Amino acid sequence: MLIHQSYQITLKSVLKGGIILGGNIVAWTMSTVIWFLTGNEGKLAEATQHLGPLGYEVRQLSLPKGTIVEPQLDTLEEVAIAKLEQAKQHLPTGDTHIMVEDAGLFVNPLDGFPGVYSSHAFKTIGNPGLLRLLSHLQSEDPVQAASLRSASFQAVAALWDGSRVILGSGVCPGAIASTVSGEEGFGFDPIFVPLDLDEFGQPLPPGVYGTTSTHGATFGSVPQTTKQIFSHRRRALDALVAELSSQSEHE
Ligand code: IMP
Repeated sequence: MLIHQSYQITLKSVLKGGIILGGNIVAWTMSTVIWFLTGNEGKLAEATQHLGPLGYEVRQLSLPKGTIVEPQLDTLEEVAIAKLEQAKQHLPTGDTHIMVEDAGLFVNPLDGFPGVYSSHAFKTIGNPGLLRLLSHLQSEDPVQAASLRSASFQAVAALWDGSRVILGSGVCPGAIASTVSGEEGFGFDPIFVPLDLDEFGQPLPPGVYGTTSTHGATFGSVPQTTKQIFSHRRRALDALVAELSSQSEHE
């Protein structure tokens, strides 16, 4: 697709064939297509929002159920790389870039369970089952409860650019609530309360109020736009974009 864009930033992917006009970089270039293996429209929208301004066109790669085997490996990185290897076989002819993303909920008092097994755990025991596993960890004091029931959402985005794998990871720390609440989002959102963030977007310790807060509400009880500010997935894409930019600047 031929694009005409005006940028304040210098990125080699955009600069190919570009000229500078009035301080802005005006580029006429073929945008690189990134095929994103996902069945989730929300993930697709997030990736488009992050990678579009860098001159990439994100397209959804939908494959028939069962085409990609969910590997049982120890870390999200390993799972993402293994899925990427499989996905590469389905890269449309002529294109070079393909991306996968993998995420999970890691509960500290359960030694990181469900972690890489999050999808299966959600389908089987679900939110009520996870709360049952933590039922012995309760406190009247909300700060102590948050420490006892600490957890994090984690995500890894993995991109094949035709010659190498580029990884970006993101973490959203928080705690498991004592009850299920809210209808927003998906998966474990109704039982996860993120830690507050400071003015730089960094998480604060339990009990410390930050400039960004859900005020103790779960991800299931806040709008998606609020979840985005804390999101592990957004942080993973940010890290991937930073890595892509630094690599393209060194080329
Ligand atoms: P996936 O790899 O992104 O499909 O995530 C695997 C599982 O982790 C999902 O089926 C959800 O149960 C859980 N999960 C991952 N990210 C989130 C999230 O942002 N909110 C709630 N649950 C999530």
